Amino acid sequence: MGAGIAIIGCGSAVPEAVLTNDHLAQMVDTSDEWIVTRTGMRNRHIASPTESLSQLSAIAAKSAIAMAGISPTEIDLIILATSTPDDMFGSACKIQGLIGATNAVAFDLTAACSGFLFALITASQFIRTGVHKNILIIGADVLSRWVDWTDRTSCILFGDGAGAAVCQRVDDDRLLSFGMYSNGIQNDSLNLNYGGDRKLLTEDITAQYGTFNPITMNGKEVYRFAVAKVPEAISKAMFQANLTADDIDWLLLHQANQRIMDAVAKRLKIPQSKILSNIEEYGNTSAASIPLALDAAVRDGRVKPGDIIAASGFGAGLTWGSAIFKWG
Ligand code: ACO
Repeated sequence: MGAGIAIIGCGSAVPEAVLTNDHLAQMVDTSDEWIVTRTGMRNRHIASPTESLSQLSAIAAKSAIAMAGISPTEIDLIILATSTPDDMFGSACKIQGLIGATNAVAFDLTAACSGFLFALITASQFIRTGVHKNILIIGADVLSRWVDWTDRTSCILFGDGAGAAVCQRVDDDRLLSFGMYSNGIQNDSLNLNYGGDRKLLTEDITAQYGTFNPITMNGKEVYRFAVAKVPEAISKAMFQANLTADDIDWLLLHQANQRIMDAVAKRLKIPQSKILSNIEEYGNTSAASIPLALDAAVRDGRVKPGDIIAASGFGAGLTWGSAIFKWG
């Protein structure tokens, strides 16, 4: 068996409760018109206190494994990309247990909204080096737990969800190129920072304990960063794969803002009709947004086997990355 990588299944799950723009207009000083015009968002799904990130991830994972036509016990590795685990020690093992992937090693990976893309690229390394055959990657976030619901500049953006994909070792490599990038100088543009209290342990030693502060964001800076760096990352990946914009069937971008997606497509000279967007219904679901959009497009038949997809994730860190792959 060769050392190429193919994505052979995908799945997704979102919470039931839908928070509309009108709901938000009752909570903060905003309007449906402002949110739709500036972001393209109308709804976002919000996890209830009885819905966990692990449960949503397990549903998405089971659905991806079913599409892949393999048994959970054939999974060798699970990578959970999330910034909002149910457990700070990691939630990947919990998911391993929930889906019965008894032969898999599992760990979490944190790279905010770039997480799913970074998980895909990490999985590709284990496959190409021959270490693993079947890898489950999950992008999931429940940012609603950490949003400042009084801050109209950020609370309108985020929703919850989970998406998954199964990667398998194959002869003909379908991951055509990729790139990963970070810029910590701009780290303070988007944060979910630790914010605990001081606790005196002894006369000389003070520890910190507690929780995290809600999300803080410089929206304009993140916007500018995304519109500059995402087209650059995709252009580099197209060059490496010896492809032009005409070869790209679908643009699969992190769903942060419809205006960002439109601007990226324009810069790349890729028609807007090739953008896979679900932002209207789900908002920005962080690490889940790329696999959620992929799963919908595969299941409704837009994305067909052999289609070439240019994907890019970007977000806190700052982190960003691109991957060009053939579906199926
Ligand atoms: N409703 C009404 N008015 C608002 C709202 C709101 N919800 N939010 C801001 N405004 C006001 C501002 O106060 C400002 O008013 P002013 O002109 O009187 O000062 C005006 O609207 C314009 O504000 P801008 O910040 O210039 O609006 P902009 O067009 O940049 O849109 C937005 C803001 C939607 C946040 C945009 O900048 C954006 O999408 N940025 C990217 C954010 C992002 O993607 N973050 C997540 C990254 S992924 C991750 O890692 C989690």
